[in-house]
Amino acid sequence: MWFYMARHPTKFLKEEYQKIQAEGREWVHRTLETPSTSRVTVEGKELLMMCSNNYLNLSNNPHLRKRAIEAVEKYGAGSGSVRAIAGNMWIHEEWERKHAEFKEQEAAQVYMSGFIANEGAIPQMVRKGDFIISDALNHGSIIDGVRLTKTERSIYAHTDMGELEQRLIEANNKDPNGEKRILIITDGVFSMDGDMAPLDEIEKLGTEYGAMMFVDDAHGDGVLGSNKSGKGIVDHFGLQGKFHVEMNTYSKAMGVVGGAITGSQDLVNYLRNTARSYLLSGSQPPAIAGAAIGALEVLTPGGEFYEPLVPKLLDNCEYFKKEIVNIGFNHEITAASAKAPTAIVPVICGENETATAMSNRLMDEGIFALPIMFPMVPRGTSRIRVMMSAGLEREDLEFSLGKFEDIGRELKIF
Ligand SMILES: Cc1ncc(COP(=O)(O)O)c(C=O)c1O
Repeated sequence: MWFYMARHPTKFLKEEYQKIQAEGREWVHRTLETPSTSRVTVEGKELLMMCSNNYLNLSNNPHLRKRAIEAVEKYGAGSGSVRAIAGNMWIHEEWERKHAEFKEQEAAQVYMSGFIANEGAIPQMVRKGDFIISDALNHGSIIDGVRLTKTERSIYAHTDMGELEQRLIEANNKDPNGEKRILIITDGVFSMDGDMAPLDEIEKLGTEYGAMMFVDDAHGDGVLGSNKSGKGIVDHFGLQGKFHVEMNTYSKAMGVVGGAITGSQDLVNYLRNTARSYLLSGSQPPAIAGAAIGALEVLTPGGEFYEPLVPKLLDNCEYFKKEIVNIGFNHEITAASAKAPTAIVPVICGENETATAMSNRLMDEGIFALPIMFPMVPRGTSRIRVMMSAGLEREDLEFSLGKFEDIGRELKIF
């Protein structure tokens, strides 16, 4: 037998990790010792939480906890199988029914996470020879979902409707008989900048050029919506039934975990039989489904468990975004995000070192807010990405704005 003695099959692991560390790209994982709410203990220090996606402060909400416990007591800890074989419980069906009802859509299908929903659904919507047209700042889960296809893809500059139209014309020119599918795909709220996709304009163009339209509403769920409903970006623009596919997540405003594809019954019937990440992966544990149903109950106006968390979140967002610009963080990205009623506030600091120093100093002063840096965002726009929450009170916002102002001056950001 021949041995390749010189080969070290896993040597790259340490080398790559060391490279990541040397280049300052390591994600140092902070450890919470308490539930994720607006006040947390992180490695022994009490901090104001300003960087979680728990926008509605639901992750430790008593009603969700109760629903999770009830579900475990009734159905146990695990589901035992994939949905299509023996893991489909009443509670999964109930979750999907309530989700579709909340979203005012015909049907929904839940997945283990939003990431997995994108990876499962996108490849089933198109075939080899079709066209995908995608916003340049779409989330990594969309990018990975698109990579799983054999479809021709083109990117349009972030929210640039002129370029989107151009791409649609090009696709139609290549397929004058309209035999192929065209899929436009966009984030609803962009996770780094907190701005919104112009969904109404996308819908007009998509309809005109015969395209399918897919929106990832991860950061609009529980935040956007007419009458402060939290029903998401489709409802915000009144486009129910017009946008063909909606991807939702329960890991952010809804305070739990899980993804959903929402739309027509035809869409769900089809994906229930084709999406690989759905068919080939165990179903959600009952506790998750129970807590997710609890979140929908808390968001349903007029219901027994309703809590006005969305209006409170939106008030907090408006106040914090206005004030952060007023105190001097007036970079165009921060100013643009202030115009959108979203919970993401990119507080631009400049270079990586400045954003890191800002985060460290904020932590010294009792605020948990982490930096997002180049290469995740363009050079010179490294930032503290504040995530607003309905769990924060006006005094918390005033306190944190005071600290942002003091440290911003100390670091000569303005
Ligand atoms: C825009 C967007 N889509 C999808 C996801 C994935 O969602 P989940 O956490 O449910 O996997 C995220 C999470 O970061 C996101 O920001």
